[in-house]
Amino acid sequence: MIWTIILLIQAGLLYFVLTHRKRYKTDPPLDKGVIPWLGHAFEFGKDAFKFLGRMKMKHGDIFTVRVAGRYVTVLLDPFSYDLVLNDKNCLDFSRYAALLMDRIFQLQLPHHMQNKSKAIMKQHFLGMNLSSLNTSMGRHLHNLVKAELSLNQKDWKEEGLFNFSYGLLFKAGYLTLFGDEQNNNSMDLSKIYKEYMKFDGLLIKLARGTLKPEEKKLAQCVRQNLCELLSPVGIKEDSGLGSWVHTYRRLLQDVGADRDTQNKALLMQLWASQGNAGPAAFWLLGFLLTNPDAMAAVKKEFSGISQTSDTCLLTVKTPVFDSALEETLRLTAAPFITREVVREKTIHMADGQEYLLRKGDRVCLFPLLSPQMDPEIHSEPQKFKHDRFLNQDGSPKMDFYKRGRKLKYYTMPWGAGTNGCVGKRLAINTIRQFVYMVLTKCDLELCDPNAQMPEVNTSRYGFGVLQPEGELYIRYKLKQTMKDNE
Ligand code: HEM
Ligand SMILES: *[C@@H]1O[C@H](CO)[C@@H](O)[C@H](O)[C@H]1NC(C)=O
Ligand SMILES: *[C@@H]1O[C@H](CO)[C@@H](O)[C@H](O)[C@H]1NC(C)=O
Ligand SMILES: *[C@@H]1O[C@H](CO)[C@@H](O)[C@H](O)[C@H]1NC(C)=O
Ligand SMILES: *[C@@H]1O[C@H](CO)[C@@H](O)[C@H](O)[C@H]1NC(C)=O
Ligand SMILES: *[C@@H]1O[C@H](CO)[C@@H](O)[C@H](O)[C@H]1NC(C)=O
Ligand SMILES: *[C@@H]1O[C@H](CO)[C@@H](O)[C@H](O)[C@H]1NC(C)=O
Repeated sequence: MIWTIILLIQAGLLYFVLTHRKRYKTDPPLDKGVIPWLGHAFEFGKDAFKFLGRMKMKHGDIFTVRVAGRYVTVLLDPFSYDLVLNDKNCLDFSRYAALLMDRIFQLQLPHHMQNKSKAIMKQHFLGMNLSSLNTSMGRHLHNLVKAELSLNQKDWKEEGLFNFSYGLLFKAGYLTLFGDEQNNNSMDLSKIYKEYMKFDGLLIKLARGTLKPEEKKLAQCVRQNLCELLSPVGIKEDSGLGSWVHTYRRLLQDVGADRDTQNKALLMQLWASQGNAGPAAFWLLGFLLTNPDAMAAVKKEFSGISQTSDTCLLTVKTPVFDSALEETLRLTAAPFITREVVREKTIHMADGQEYLLRKGDRVCLFPLLSPQMDPEIHSEPQKFKHDRFLNQDGSPKMDFYKRGRKLKYYTMPWGAGTNGCVGKRLAINTIRQFVYMVLTKCDLELCDPNAQMPEVNTSRYGFGVLQPEGELYIRYKLKQTMKDNE
């Protein structure tokens, strides 16, 4: 009995020592929340945008919150973002990334392979090799859309726009990056998409470690299924000589990863490469369908594209479309950019204040809150304005200001710095090809002409492009003229 009490007291003391934290003058404002240890974890997980918006009102552009035992310093001043993005000495990217990789994919990769794997991606997703990916993606999209539509030549087909967009872009992306020319069997594709969607639904809870026991079992099972489906990928040379996935698989073999680890790594890449473009295409088409002016402007621009260049759109300029996509991503791209503080660091804020980042804490940027939804930068930030990123003369607009000072980061859906998205150009071209194809080859309309965009699923803030809660129902069919031509 006495020992129990002593142990309890010791545990209490230890807890106090570990979690007690006083704010020093140099620290950012500290907000621990009322719940011991957990702090603000609940509110943070439920709706991070709302929670961090509230903290911003209360504390300003920098503050530290306690979330599940960790202290996270949130920085919301876009003028100071470069201090975080460019510092590889005091701030570390890979530790937190490795933690997430382990939690979501149960994957541990040797630290030293990260540079190599990045280099391979750059080689394949940027530069000259991109044009063959651009072309291949266009071809797959074309085939898939045609296959989808030829099943119902005359009649309208009804479907949820989210499922329609995500499904098609996932399949085209899978065929382009993970498939080989012989194997485009639509049964297999649908099976992979289905399993992938189950995994995507569990992903946030996996990352936070908040799965219920039965969900844990399901996650295990879905991960297993996907790994099996991915196990032949990239093995044979015929996946296109020197394709990215083949080169990546070889790198994994070279560093001694076993087959299971290789498959999990491919699953991670599947998610990194397919998790954002589909949802982004959904939001863009949704905004166009619910904003007739925007739809008319984009269609007008597309109608000027000559038929000869229309399968891959490699060289055409589409500033109106680009602006509409940028605006879509401003509203719906919601990554956290997180680093671990491995050495104390001083942050200079735009207003001249200085704060110390403490070793062992995390620092987190949330560009959705600022710059993307910052009313000082973008007027009526909640509103979709397709021409927000266009100048009067129709050229891309890149000058945005806050308190009279020009911003480098006025929207940052792709992250930035060395850890920014390597697939950016491929993603933009894919979404452009998809929207072009759907708008020029199909008749597409809302089932309910007065339908509004669905709400966002607020539990997904921090993990890339948001997803809707519920669907936006559309109907579509092949354009009459297309049927006659083909
Ligand atoms: C609309 C579509 C997309 C958006 C908004 C997007 C956004 C992002 C963001 C925000 C990051 C993380 C940056 C950070 O942590 O600081 C990222 C990383 C990454 N993206 Fe994308 N992405 C998209 C499409 C793609 C596509 C199509 C590919 C595939 C080719 C791709 C491949 C990657 C990879 C491999 C990384 C990890 C880079 C690293 O490990 O450093 N992304 N993306
Ligand atoms: C990875 O590359 C960066 C520079 O690009 C370098 O500073 C770092 O030491 C490299 N890491 C490893 C493990 O090779
Ligand atoms: C592929 O598409 C992107 C986006 O439209 C474009 O910027 C890029 O130049 C294209 N790449 C090549 C090599 O054609
Ligand atoms: C699959 O590939 C064949 C040619 O190899 C092509 O004719 C067919 O349209 C493709 N199907 C899909 C759905 O991409
Ligand atoms: C979702 O899309 C797939 C094709 O990608 C289709 O087979 C399925 O019926 C769709 N589901 C719903 C609920 O619309
Ligand atoms: C919202 O997202 C979470 C996490 O992915 C998921 O568990 C939940 O089912 C989603 N809610 C809806 C209504 O789709
Ligand atoms: C394209 O990829 C191949 C490997 O398939 C590589 O040898 C080549 O250097 C890449 N080209 C560029 C311009 O990166």
